[in-house]
Amino acid sequence: MPLPTDAPLVLGIETSCDETGAAIVRGFDLLGDALASSMEEHARFGGVIPEIASRAHLEAMPGVLAGAVERSGVRLSDLDAIAVTAGPGLMGSLTVGLAAAKALALALDRPLYGVNHVVAHALVDQLVNGPLPERTLALVVSGGHTSLLLIEGGRVVEVGATLDDAAGEAFDKIGRVLGLPYPGGPHIDRLAREGNPAAYRFPRGLMRRQDLERHPFDFSFSGLKTAVARWIEAHEDDGAPIPLADVAASFSEAVSDVLVAKTLTAAREFDVSTIVVGGGFSANSQLRERIAAAAARSGLEVRIPPLALCTDNGPMIAAAGAYALRHGLAPSGLDLGADSAMPMGRVVA
Ligand code: KG4
Ligand code: ZN
Repeated sequence: MPLPTDAPLVLGIETSCDETGAAIVRGFDLLGDALASSMEEHARFGGVIPEIASRAHLEAMPGVLAGAVERSGVRLSDLDAIAVTAGPGLMGSLTVGLAAAKALALALDRPLYGVNHVVAHALVDQLVNGPLPERTLALVVSGGHTSLLLIEGGRVVEVGATLDDAAGEAFDKIGRVLGLPYPGGPHIDRLAREGNPAAYRFPRGLMRRQDLERHPFDFSFSGLKTAVARWIEAHEDDGAPIPLADVAASFSEAVSDVLVAKTLTAAREFDVSTIVVGGGFSANSQLRERIAAAAARSGLEVRIPPLALCTDNGPMIAAAGAYALRHGLAPSGLDLGADSAMPMGRVVA
């Protein structure tokens, strides 16, 4: 559906973790964006160091904002609204983005939308594949989150979530056990493509009948993570070489099996015909293939944004802002705070 040329011009600012992103959209048309990352500064610590991330956001923000504005070919004074990640995320990192967004909203006298980062991972798809159907099921899988969200008419219900580790987190931890560089997710994915996913049978979390009754759409990856880590340790003790590709493939299979099974069951239960997959883990090749194949068998549409829009970025926040305006959601006040554990129930704080 073509968007009117007078659709609102929204700036989105993302700083929830280690990526500083800014983007400008007109409706769901992405005009331009810019991104800086402090990932390399954290790699030697094997995980994101919050203080380093906050300082990197502060230093990168002016250049990232200027880059997004320049590439969009608009002036700041043309903006209709400012959207910013209000949570969930690292407190210090969120605060830098919020401070920048509030300064702009105040100086330009425009409304401010404090958006939910996890929901935005799903809403970004609209920049590529157009507006989502009124009722959509989203699977958001990242280093910090594994959530099934029912998004409907500007509202969001979290129908399932991980009870412990996120899928990406489990990949990163197994990556560490295998001695792979941080973050381990992409490396395990690469190894898995060469291996046999049926080589080893690792546990599927919350898939037994009694678990499904209590937690039909929830996930748990810590039992799987422990089982795989123990298996590797036992093998190392035997002095045998680790069959890296087969372990990676069998571990990935256990994760994607559960993600796909629960997402498809939820799609039937909540009577949706479109599933959108987002978050950094949606780069995972097994998940992409399996969910596309399962959905095709069930006659469902699966939308997965291109990889650059799956990891943290500015366009996702601008898209969430555009979605908020389209659905007439109330803006946040200038007293908006950062919420490191922001609940999933709303697009805008
Ligand atoms: O959404 P994201 O960029 O950051 C968070 O908000 O967490 O997701 C990053 C996560 C990391 O855990 C990373 O290892 C994982 O996504 N990841 C992958 C792949 N690419 C990134 N995991 C498995 N396979 C991949 N191809
Ligand atoms: Zn994210």
